[in-house]
Amino acid sequence: MTEDKAAESGIGQTQAGVAPGSEGEPASGWRNFYGRRSGKTLRPSQKTYLTEDLGRLRPAGISPEENPERRPLDLGVLFGGRPVWLEIGFGGGEHMVHMAARNPDVGLIGCEPFVNGVAMLLGKIREAGVENLLVHPGDVRDLFDVLPAGSIRKAFLNYPDPWPKKRHHKRRFVTQGHLQPLARVLAPGAEFRVATDIPDYVRQTLEEVPLAGFDLVNQSGTPWEDWLSTRYEQKALREGREPHYLTFRRMG
Ligand SMILES: C[S@@+](CC[C@H](N)C(=O)[O-])C[C@H]1O[C@@H](n2cnc3c(N)ncnc32)[C@H](O)[C@@H]1O
Repeated sequence: MTEDKAAESGIGQTQAGVAPGSEGEPASGWRNFYGRRSGKTLRPSQKTYLTEDLGRLRPAGISPEENPERRPLDLGVLFGGRPVWLEIGFGGGEHMVHMAARNPDVGLIGCEPFVNGVAMLLGKIREAGVENLLVHPGDVRDLFDVLPAGSIRKAFLNYPDPWPKKRHHKRRFVTQGHLQPLARVLAPGAEFRVATDIPDYVRQTLEEVPLAGFDLVNQSGTPWEDWLSTRYEQKALREGREPHYLTFRRMG
């Protein structure tokens, strides 16, 4: 089953806890996550990356289990004072590693609950030899809880799960339950980029993101000059869908 089919059907749905009627609610440790956490059997090399590298690249204190008081992370310690950028749902990690390699003076943190994607990212980190990158192998909402306000200078949302059925639109990332915590952690003036191949996702993004305190800066069919096409974008192009690139700026 493809990723978007899983996202559409809710197959692979997991719950961190039991909270009836709490879809999208921001109660830590009680969040519903409707995507997939694992897929094909990992290759032996990927298992090695997870065993040998993830411990070093994964900041402690993000999950509610590790940090029930939700103490804020010290990004100065984690990234040595570099400006910090965030990638939400990095998939196979190609865009994130590309950005890390292009911007050695920046620190990147990426979130991805799909373990196969995390393993792919770790392989690419080894290959590229980049060191300015950390990983949260889980839900970005758990990271939002513990990021200090105004601490992120740029955020990327590349091909978020489309949730095409109308009754599932409230699961999309571009809803206030996700966007307001994102707005809190972004610095005033920070850039927020969204790439999607779904026209109705563009519509919802243009409606919802400004409500969370962002200005639309640009909307285009041409990618950013530093863009690296992702696996999901390649699939969309093969299937004849058209990319849309939206740029917002955090008001402040
Ligand atoms: C359609 S895929 C796109 C992956 C990648 N950005 C690309 O362009 O190839 C969307 C990704 O978002 C991840 N995702 C969904 N909800 C998330 C959440 N709450 N926090 C972090 N990642 C999430 C999914 O696991 C999935 O890998």
